[in-house]
Amino acid sequence: MRASLAHMKTRFLRRQPFRRQAFRQQAFRRQLLACRMLLSGAVVSGAVAFVAACSTPAAGTPAATASSSSKGGELAGAASAPQFGKSPIKDVIAAMTRDEKVRLVMGTGLDAPGLRPEIAAPAGPHSHSRVPGSAGETLAIPRLGIPAIVLADGPAGLRIQPKREDSPDATFYCTAFPVATALAASWDPSLVEQVGKAMGAEVRAYGVDVLLAPALNIQRLPLGGRNFEYFSEDPLLSGRIAAAVVRGVQANGVGTSVKHFAANNEEWNRRVLDVRVDERALREIYLRGFEIAVQEGQPWTVMSSYNQINGTYTSEDPRLLTSILRSEWHFGGLVMSDWFAGRDPVAQVSAGNDLLMPGTERQRQALLAALEQGRLEESVLDRSIANLLELIAKTPTFRGEPAPAVDLKAGAAVARAAAGQGMVLLKNDRARLPLAKGLRLALFGNGSYEVLSSGTGSGDVNEAYTVSTAEGLAAAGFAPTASLSEHYRAYLASENAKRPPRVGIEAFLPIQLVSELALEAGLVERSVREADAAVLTVRRSSGEFSDRPADDFYLSVPEQALLRRVSNAARAAGKPLIAILNVGSPIETASWRDQVDAMLVAWQPGQEAGHAIADVLDGAVTPSGKLSMTFPRDWKDLPAARGFPGKVLEPGVDPPPFGGAKAAEVDYADGIQVGYRALATSKAAVAFPFGHGLSYTTFRYGALSVASQPGAPAHWNVTIAVTNTGKVPGAEVVQLYVSAPKGGLSKPALELRRFGKTRRLAPGEAETLAFELGPRELASFDPAASAWLVDPGTYTLRAGASSADLRQTAALQVAQALNLPLR
Ligand code: BGC
Repeated sequence: MRASLAHMKTRFLRRQPFRRQAFRQQAFRRQLLACRMLLSGAVVSGAVAFVAACSTPAAGTPAATASSSSKGGELAGAASAPQFGKSPIKDVIAAMTRDEKVRLVMGTGLDAPGLRPEIAAPAGPHSHSRVPGSAGETLAIPRLGIPAIVLADGPAGLRIQPKREDSPDATFYCTAFPVATALAASWDPSLVEQVGKAMGAEVRAYGVDVLLAPALNIQRLPLGGRNFEYFSEDPLLSGRIAAAVVRGVQANGVGTSVKHFAANNEEWNRRVLDVRVDERALREIYLRGFEIAVQEGQPWTVMSSYNQINGTYTSEDPRLLTSILRSEWHFGGLVMSDWFAGRDPVAQVSAGNDLLMPGTERQRQALLAALEQGRLEESVLDRSIANLLELIAKTPTFRGEPAPAVDLKAGAAVARAAAGQGMVLLKNDRARLPLAKGLRLALFGNGSYEVLSSGTGSGDVNEAYTVSTAEGLAAAGFAPTASLSEHYRAYLASENAKRPPRVGIEAFLPIQLVSELALEAGLVERSVREADAAVLTVRRSSGEFSDRPADDFYLSVPEQALLRRVSNAARAAGKPLIAILNVGSPIETASWRDQVDAMLVAWQPGQEAGHAIADVLDGAVTPSGKLSMTFPRDWKDLPAARGFPGKVLEPGVDPPPFGGAKAAEVDYADGIQVGYRALATSKAAVAFPFGHGLSYTTFRYGALSVASQPGAPAHWNVTIAVTNTGKVPGAEVVQLYVSAPKGGLSKPALELRRFGKTRRLAPGEAETLAFELGPRELASFDPAASAWLVDPGTYTLRAGASSADLRQTAALQVAQALNLPLR
């Protein structure tokens, strides 16, 4: 039975008369807000959160849900129909009505008041809320034994509703793991695979079938609103870390969805934005990470994106979804759309977008009409349905295996360990860090007391708690100065009390952070004098629906004022000042780095934030993270800034169903010159280069040795020994860059082609890292030949501790040009 929101609300109100009025008022406010958002064209997936926040569950616990589907489930009245799981898939498909087929290639919709008719859920009997707070479900067809499966966000851990009206005594929290950028900054696929395993364990335990993660769009500019959900400005690092997430999550017998395919690098006008990008940049930068993730991770699903590429919506693009993804890369899974993405459902399904999410009545009508009129072959639907049924067959829901218990303690331990490994020590003058345990610390900045575990939107997680930096440091034996802490706590409590609770869709949107507390005269100086060291946290939040405003990159006026006062006081008192960057993407650091002694990028490190920060500050963890994105002096230094965010096309109003947004385009005129590729080529100064990150110890790089693989032309074995030459144990990330010979296709000065991380080496201990290189690592995409080309000549291999700290080089000879076909 469809559990409509209205129906569930009535049930809920009947049970709890005393809450009726409050609920109605709240619901009315939410409806208004949802209408506003939808009318203004600003939504849409926020509606997911909206439903999540309003709905009561239709079905029972995850365990009950999982066991309610029987393997091949023969359901009442279905005796003669072929049964999914028992009969061949083609017979099951042949037994479907047209309407069933059409409703199977879309989700069961969002069922929220305030949704405009164009995006109302498809008509028909289905439920939406088996796991409240999930993002969507597919259609169940009981007579054929086909169960509904549940899809839920997201990249930093499972996102579901933590409380349910019908289980007032139970909670359904999930672990908030470090955000994707923090995971990538570990440069450690095996660690990330463990994180994926822990995420997937919760997905499984809560009765979800597919996690809508990882997200791996390229971080083109620091201002990208969803950068924190993404891994890197480099496609190799993005792809390899994404593949690790996929392997880890899927080891639990649940699926992933590698998203948002492709070139969804900014949020501005995201549902209509036309990304104008040349074929070479598309292949080398924007598709390459997906190619690696698909081939090395084997995700069960891929999610197409909102934007267009060169005039075609990605979800309607047969070249992208079929020729490239399936024929060239051999992807065998299911493609789903992003929520309400694209325009034309017929074009979407025809292009190979198997599942339209979350599904609308308008799409249902359009597909039925196209079938009637012969504009859509039923065989096209059958192909998508076969992909969906193959996906369903793998899910825990279909397999009917009991769900394991949720283990939030285990999740927290993984989150803490991973957060520490991803933190990046940008500077550490006179080895001020680590701090001796037990020191008295003056903690400045709102963020020292209210840490941001992640960004907002579908990449956020509903965790049970977040450990603040102040709490984490206190737990590690440091002593935060009391009166300063009291001032901050009182200020934040009173500011937070003035804010309306973030419910429904609001909980999904980017937040405006409380402005920095202006401390009274003398308090800064007194607190610094009382303490042994000062810590200042700078934090930034961003999320879905908008990019960061340009101002957000720079320290605000109150932040600058606070920094100056604390820095002066620390200098005067001879105390070290440590800056902690609680950010999801780079901020400006060049102008103020000299005012602090040490700088640690903690990122948005998940719920164990404070403990993980303390682990690094006190030396329990030797930092080994490295930047997965350049910290430029100014965001405008990057060539991508020139066209950002794009231009509105006049006349060109976005037509229904989302009318309101203007048609818009952005020109990726920078081509392949993205991030460090551009800055290393133009030799522009940066604040901190791509790949940079200090340690509490030091490492010596031995010679870089390169040997041809016997019997395999254009394949090499590369090794390099790394020795810990310092006094404490630590791990080192080694980056292997290639510089190509001049003469053929123009190339960036450097391109990351391999990387590796040593184990934790004791002082004096060494490890030899080994890499294999093949022709693809030297190749560039030649649009004229539509192939990967390796120019002949001498290639220089550079092993470095960062893209600007290249320690060893070696040469590779390629005797003649190689042309690598696409498939
Ligand atoms: C986001 C996706 C997310 C989906 C479902 C969309 O707005 O772009 O990343 O998976 O909503 O919540």
